Amino acid sequence: MSQTKPTILVSGGAGYIGSHAVQALQNAGYDVVILDNLVYGHRDIVENVLKVEMIVGDTSDRSLLDKIFATHKIAAVMHFAAYIFVGESVKDPKKYYNNNVVGTLTLLEAMLAASVKKFVFSSTAAIYGEPQTSPIPEDHPKNPINPYGASKRMLEQILADFEVAYDFKSVCFRYFNAAGAHPNGLTGEDHNPETHLIPLVLFAALGKRDSISIFGIDYDTPDGTCIRDYIHVCDLADAHVLGLEYLLNGGDSDIFNLGNGNGFSVREVIETVKEVTGREFKVEERDRRPGDAPILVGSSEKARRVLGWYPKYPEVKEIIAHAWQWHQKRHDE
Ligand code: UFG
Repeated sequence: MSQTKPTILVSGGAGYIGSHAVQALQNAGYDVVILDNLVYGHRDIVENVLKVEMIVGDTSDRSLLDKIFATHKIAAVMHFAAYIFVGESVKDPKKYYNNNVVGTLTLLEAMLAASVKKFVFSSTAAIYGEPQTSPIPEDHPKNPINPYGASKRMLEQILADFEVAYDFKSVCFRYFNAAGAHPNGLTGEDHNPETHLIPLVLFAALGKRDSISIFGIDYDTPDGTCIRDYIHVCDLADAHVLGLEYLLNGGDSDIFNLGNGNGFSVREVIETVKEVTGREFKVEERDRRPGDAPILVGSSEKARRVLGWYPKYPEVKEIIAHAWQWHQKRHDE
């Protein structure tokens, strides 16, 4: 690894997207330190695959943060340490505002105190709420419909104000549906509880579930099921490295959507899983899940234009194939 590139603190580096960002940073020659409270992160992935220093702790622990910045020469922070369950955020908003807003604000304050003023932030398409146009551009109105999306929206506002007041520079990435796994087969999605479509369909293919439920078949879409823009986790990770380098090269704060610009329906995902895995399983048609928009597809034209980002794995079949390789290894014991 090159000794000339700076050290990046990755909060939430033991989680799904964070662990892929760590690998992208390592491939680009950066030194990485992980901060993760391991509430949802995976120690085994850090110890056996990423093999970088991990500090176990919380972004709300100011004295720990001060110690990290005092003992490591951190050039920038990539922040993935957020809670992500939309349904849970509705039932227990204080958990989301505490971790996603208060915890992150503490991290930002510690950064300012240490004069570390470059921040790559994991935001979400959930901040747009009900789409008024498709594909969704970055200047689409922001009306999040749940506390999870609201917590990310608040952080984006805080970051905008920090730039004006403290010359603090950030890049916010609004992800559409993160999916897939590293083609090396060593890292992938492992949420507990799992609520996302692709891993749940793969659990059905593995026989770990009796069936997969389709939440709603009467949407105003070609096959009646919801359409989403699935984006490969390694493409997200690559965008983070580009966003980091944009900031390290003196770029101003900016915000980018990350998606493929292509929508796939729930039925199309299920059919593709059957094709990729060669396995049959039961599919059940259920009522709509509250809060689901019929179609969520993003325009990532700006990330291409400004950052030179392009997805290496835009095909949903390949996204699912990589996820299948990972799930077989991780869950088929
Ligand atoms: N779905 C099913 N059956 C299931 C699970 C999901 O039919 O068992 C459907 C959902 O109703 C939805 C689609 O599959 O129509 C995708 O659902 P996911 O739960 O996989 O993902 P979401 O689109 O709900 O949410 C994702 C992220 C959020 C983020 C949002 C932003 O998980 O964190 O995208 O667009 F906020």
